[in-house]
Amino acid sequence: MRVLVTGGAGYVGSTLVPALLAEGHHVRVLDRLRAGGEGLLSCCGHAGFEMVVGDVCDERAVAEALRGVDAIVHLAAVVGEPACAGEPAQAWMTNVEGTSTLVKLRQAGQSLLFASTGSVYGKVTDAVCTEATSVDPNTRYAKAKALGEQMVLDAGNAVVYRFATAFGVSQRLRTDLLVNDFVYKAVRQGYLVVYQPGFRRTLVHVRDMARSIVFALGNWHGLADDVYNVGNAELNLSKAAIAGAIARRTECYVHFAEFATDPDQRDYAVSYRKIEDKGFTAEVDLETGLAELCGAARLVP
Ligand SMILES: NC(=O)c1ccc[n+]([C@@H]2O[C@H](COP(=O)([O-])OP(=O)(O)OC[C@H]3O[C@@H](n4cnc5c(N)ncnc54)[C@H](O)[C@@H]3O)[C@@H](O)[C@H]2O)c1
Repeated sequence: MRVLVTGGAGYVGSTLVPALLAEGHHVRVLDRLRAGGEGLLSCCGHAGFEMVVGDVCDERAVAEALRGVDAIVHLAAVVGEPACAGEPAQAWMTNVEGTSTLVKLRQAGQSLLFASTGSVYGKVTDAVCTEATSVDPNTRYAKAKALGEQMVLDAGNAVVYRFATAFGVSQRLRTDLLVNDFVYKAVRQGYLVVYQPGFRRTLVHVRDMARSIVFALGNWHGLADDVYNVGNAELNLSKAAIAGAIARRTECYVHFAEFATDPDQRDYAVSYRKIEDKGFTAEVDLETGLAELCGAARLVP
């Protein structure tokens, strides 16, 4: 299959693209390389790998990138509320207009997987979110993703994945994600400050994210035109539990504080039964991810 991955040079993409190449797919990446392209260096010698440096809002670049592909995995985004709040106009352009440009220019036969986020559920404390839970986005990031979901579902031949918060080592490592950030600080500073420790988060390892996308491309007709939560059912954990696991491994000091809050006040648990019933189950557990992150924390600046 010929696959276009937008945002393929990022944290998820730099794990996904080698996985797709290993499955025998031809992969073209469209990315404006906001954080560089080093995450894809290992792919450059592969005959099935192609790079288009460009913006998802640029119709010419998108049209060129779409030529001849069977499937699109749309990852390109300004990711997370702090990043969106830092550059709201750019975030809106990329996250809303970029998605609309792709939807407009792709052929109906080109299948489209949209990377959304569990944060579209907003602040849900009293229930486990399923795909039937109504969305209530309360940040710029989540609102843009909810709009993107609607656009791709209205257009058809699409799958929406609402990913949990990612963790783990990727070729382009992000240290701003909750678990990655905690491990980095635990290893490099020797202490962790955790606010709102009782708040629950739901996690997925970055390799499981990549596997779930490979799974979707291989099982498209069973999944198409629907929304799936994608995460690890064993990893609906409070911040205190995550910090505790890191402290046991690193012997860092953990201070629970009440002086700050998350921008989106996320405190929720999510069910992954729907995608599991289709045949995909996340496999990488917290301890495996923590072990590799502890090693990586000493290698990155
Ligand atoms: N990492 C997570 O925890 C998580 C959780 C849920 C959903 N997601 C979604 O998964 C996708 C990938 O996330 P990530 O963690 O790899 O993010 P990332 O920031 O590491 O990667 C995003 C990539 O998109 C590229 N990009 C940004 N704006 C662009 C534009 N206008 N045109 C072309 N390329 C552009 C960047 O250069 C970067 O390589 C995103 O859509 C994100 O919303 C991520």
